[in-house]
Amino acid sequence: MSEIRHIFVVGAGTMGSGIAQVAATSGYQVTLMDVDPDQLARALQVIDKSTAKLVSKGKLSEEQRQAALNIRTTQSLEDAAEADLVIEAATENPDIKFRIFRDLDRITRPEVILASNTSSISITAIAAATTRPDRVIGMHFFNPVPLMTLVEVVRGLSTSDPTTGTIIQVAESMGKVPVEVNDSPGFVSNRVLMPMINEAIFALQEGVASVQAIDTVMRLGMNHPMGPLYLADLIGLDVVLFILDVLQRDLGEDKYRPAPLLRKLVHAGHLGRKTGMGFYDYRTNPKGEPREFR
Ligand code: CAA
Repeated sequence: MSEIRHIFVVGAGTMGSGIAQVAATSGYQVTLMDVDPDQLARALQVIDKSTAKLVSKGKLSEEQRQAALNIRTTQSLEDAAEADLVIEAATENPDIKFRIFRDLDRITRPEVILASNTSSISITAIAAATTRPDRVIGMHFFNPVPLMTLVEVVRGLSTSDPTTGTIIQVAESMGKVPVEVNDSPGFVSNRVLMPMINEAIFALQEGVASVQAIDTVMRLGMNHPMGPLYLADLIGLDVVLFILDVLQRDLGEDKYRPAPLLRKLVHAGHLGRKTGMGFYDYRTNPKGEPREFR
């Protein structure tokens, strides 16, 4: 396995920009790719703000911040030809992911590892879209990427030991703690997290307690840094719904059935922080005001 110097990140949304930032501040040369130029511009603004904050807290040096500000951007997947490692963080749509991996398989050198940040799509299925399933793996980061220490390293059916070993090393070099798990719907993180969030939504829908009360119970009673409804807004309610649908379908268990209130909010376009409304309203207060549901 040749040395990894240049990481190519596909997708400049919340996760892709965070991954690119952390890779750059860890000494990698980074290219961030997105088909949407506005998304790339937004990602650079987010990276600028995040690294400025981390420098002011003494968590990053000025040189590391400069490295992040020097991230190259491109709208062309073809530029992955120069990469030593690709981390894909595009939209959670299986057909889009399969197409991206088919293209990356053609574009990149044959020895290059293709990692996906997917939170719920089968790594085995993504790997099957390529001619190198032994070099396809899940590298699942957590939001906000610069602050969260875990990387869930997901082995597909054919992922090799050398591929897993390399990705563990890369995650450690980024200051993260990698944990190896096998490919299974939701992996470990979302199989455990999503039912908790879903149950909080059922409790809200049934009038057991208010948004604020449910989140306070979990923050102060369980010492969670955020309540489940506030966290759902951070993740994105469309993402939460998508993952619950995958869990219910692929594990065949109705215990993962998404709460109807969740589906209703997604239908309304109230997707959480990113749209200004979810279980909280962020339009006037950026920290969010709890909404009332009846
Ligand atoms: N870069 C730099 N700084 C950031 C930042 C970022 N991306 N995001 C937040 N911060 C800063 C804030 O600006 C704030 O700075 P000040 O102290 O100067 O105000 C600081 O971090 C602390 O933030 P807060 O005071 O708002 O809140 P906090 O102490 O609760 O810490 C947190 C924030 C680390 C996010 C914490 O709330 C937390 O751990 N929450 C849970 C997050 C979580 O569970 N994430 C996983 C989601 S699941 C997922 O991502 C995967 C999936 O597949 C769905």
